[in-house]
Amino acid sequence: MVTTREGVSHRVEARSGLTLMEILRGAGFDEMQALCGGCCACATCHVYVDSAALDRLPPPESDERELLESSSHKSPLSRLACQVPFDDSLDGMGVTIAPED
Ligand code: FES
Repeated sequence: MVTTREGVSHRVEARSGLTLMEILRGAGFDEMQALCGGCCACATCHVYVDSAALDRLPPPESDERELLESSSHKSPLSRLACQVPFDDSLDGMGVTIAPED
């Protein structure tokens, strides 16, 4: 389930092997700009993942952590969607698109 910045939730079909960013962009969530195309250089793919899914994700690398630190909207649930690989174990996870910095 994906929640937009306006608070509207949408069910999204997700394919294993893509990143969350690729899934969200492919589903038409253009408000998430993903300007660097997934190079972990822009932080415009900032999302909040639900707490149940957070522990199932690989931990962020140092470059992702540094970019998130620069966001004024960082929370303990923050991730950069381009750095989160999706697989079937994450089926049903919730993602909220973070406010724009
Ligand atoms: S798309 Fe730029 S950091 Fe994720």
